[in-house]
Amino acid sequence: PIPQRVADLVSRMTLPEKVGQMMQLSATTYDDRETDPSTGAPNADLIRELVLGTHVGSILHASPAQLALAHELAATTRLGIPLLIGEDCIHGHSFFTGATIFPTQLAMAASFDPALVEAVARATAVEVAPTGVHWTFSPVLCIARDTRWGRVSETFGEDPYLIGELASAMVRGYQGEGLEDPTAILATAKHFAAYSETQGGRDASEADVSRRKMLSWYTPPFERVAREGCATFMLGYQAIDGVPITINDWLLNETLRGAWGYTGMLVTDWDNVGQLVRIQQIAPDFTDAARRAVLAGNDMIMTTPEFFAGAQAAVAEGSLPEAAIDAAVGRILTQKFALGLFEDPRLPDQERQRAVIGSAAHAELNLEIARRSLVLLENDGALPLPSSTRRLAVVGPNADDPDTTLGDWAGNSGQATWMSGGHPREMISTVLDGARAAGWEVTHARGADILTLGPDPAGAFFPDGQPRPQVVIPAQPDEAMIAEAVAAVRESDAVVAVVGDRIELVGEGRSTATLDLIGGQVALLEAVQAEASAAGKPLIVVVLASKPHVLPEAALRANAIIWAGNPGMRGGQALAELLAGDIEPTGRLPISWPRHVGQLPVFYNAIPHQHGTRYADLTQEPQWVFGQGRSYSTVEYADLRVLTPRVHDGEHVRAVVTVTNTGERPVRETVQVYVDDVVTSVTWAGKELKGVRQVDLTPGASEQVEVSIAVADCSIVTAAGERVVEPGAFRLLVGASSREADLLASEFEVLAD
Ligand code: IFM
Repeated sequence: PIPQRVADLVSRMTLPEKVGQMMQLSATTYDDRETDPSTGAPNADLIRELVLGTHVGSILHASPAQLALAHELAATTRLGIPLLIGEDCIHGHSFFTGATIFPTQLAMAASFDPALVEAVARATAVEVAPTGVHWTFSPVLCIARDTRWGRVSETFGEDPYLIGELASAMVRGYQGEGLEDPTAILATAKHFAAYSETQGGRDASEADVSRRKMLSWYTPPFERVAREGCATFMLGYQAIDGVPITINDWLLNETLRGAWGYTGMLVTDWDNVGQLVRIQQIAPDFTDAARRAVLAGNDMIMTTPEFFAGAQAAVAEGSLPEAAIDAAVGRILTQKFALGLFEDPRLPDQERQRAVIGSAAHAELNLEIARRSLVLLENDGALPLPSSTRRLAVVGPNADDPDTTLGDWAGNSGQATWMSGGHPREMISTVLDGARAAGWEVTHARGADILTLGPDPAGAFFPDGQPRPQVVIPAQPDEAMIAEAVAAVRESDAVVAVVGDRIELVGEGRSTATLDLIGGQVALLEAVQAEASAAGKPLIVVVLASKPHVLPEAALRANAIIWAGNPGMRGGQALAELLAGDIEPTGRLPISWPRHVGQLPVFYNAIPHQHGTRYADLTQEPQWVFGQGRSYSTVEYADLRVLTPRVHDGEHVRAVVTVTNTGERPVRETVQVYVDDVVTSVTWAGKELKGVRQVDLTPGASEQVEVSIAVADCSIVTAAGERVVEPGAFRLLVGASSREADLLASEFEVLAD
């Protein structure tokens, strides 16, 4: 049994071996030492130093050759403890050339489909496992509210219920039937918790969030995946109310380990422990930082080399009981035993890699999730394009940008280039590729640039150590490029303008001050829109962007608007199918779109407030709100009936609603179920998503859809911080989006016992 094997092994380890076991160091942190410049071979000295010198328990960001060497060296150590290899494989295996790169998490969230998201995570695990990686740092459960934050595309959006559903699905997909299955990898719920609650969207800033707010919205998705058996949790960088998460006793011990009984493994984020000294100035030295991190319950310390000496010194001076180290090491070894690494260290297996990585089956699944992630935001009937459309103008800076098509963490740019040279171009379908392959006669003009890059005056930045061009300089409109695009419009029957952001504006440490379409894009859209509308040609604006943007008037005047997110390797093909009407639009917004950056944070489940409809100079309503998304057909909701009007806690509220496809095309309708607690002891969200049903309806078809919600899910968090269902009246809202106008309302009552 695992507990006995763990206890036996821990009892035979020296203190340095135990402290090293708690450490995860990067094989690529040390700039040019990662490879031998003369041969290109992995620098054996660095790997030897990590495995034999520091006795590390885990390595992250290692190339295939480095991995093989590290595994080999680990087998020669005194106790032969296998290494745990971690990697950010968050929408496919980011760094393995030729791996399947799916849409980003945010784009996938638009599918509102846990089963499909689970299948994507399963396929990812099947590709990741034979590369020698045992552990993915995914899924992200952060709630995205201030979309200036650079990591919005890594999230499932703004709604805690949807996040919990989709994250649980991903955990099930990664961890498969059980960790002993050789295709299972450890999942990580991150970044625990409220890392996204930034100030001004600035990455990793102090989170100004009360405990009640934490328990109300930020921790519930994490609790959900803890109960799902998510093997590991990663802690956010930031502090909450002055206490860094790394040493946050309330969050880690009282809540996660205590109230939820979580027994999995905790990993810090990058150098969290070092930050206690270097940035947060909470600890005077690394001995104190190590002591406090261990006592708070951290198990794996990511990329803080000073932890090795610091933790040993703390034990030697008597401020850190060795038993606390033993407990952490025990939790790490438990995962290694659960994966069966002592019997089979799961070394890179090239034969299996060839069989599964980038397979045709995964490409098909990728196409399916890309189709389901596209959101049709507006359509005046221009879409689908009629079959008489022969000539298509495909213009705009994102029409043919493979990096942005894949999105962040895809081995393609910036922080992600350090291990793979990127993915073969022929694996990636951009919008231009998709349009050409679909058979239209395409005239392409880039029309505008988004940005150029200037040198970062502060020099190199985490984590690859390479000099990174980091300063974004918005491009100026280029009249010649615009003229070329306008000429393309003249030669076309219909126009597709593909605009958005670029990979350099996305990711960790890459928050944006605005959400505008920067560079020459607005001028391009104005020129193209004027030309198209004067000539009576339909203009379709495709926003291929990591996150919601503020669209200019010229875009809002288009005949149709589609949000494509970062749609992954099959994105262009999926989009062409949508334009042609070969598939139906099914995506729904997992996140609201502001009209102006000054509206942030903007999200549907806010607490109602007086004067809550207008700024003096602008409406408070977003451009499009959570749950919105059009079909090519029309759908009507009628006859919402609550079958259980009086319920007790512990029971379910059941209701039926009739959903009818009143248009002429088939539809997959996402029936959204919201609850509004009418009177609460504390102020609470106006409505919250509690359930989703998806139904397929042929033209004219009608279905009575039954929805069921656990009364326990209608709880609130009281002023005392307790989650309770408060008896009384509730509104049940069912419909096509979170907009009041899209919802039918009924009532039920929760009875006191
Ligand atoms: O997993 C990531 C995390 O999300 C942000 N900091 C670095 C980690 C490892 O790459």
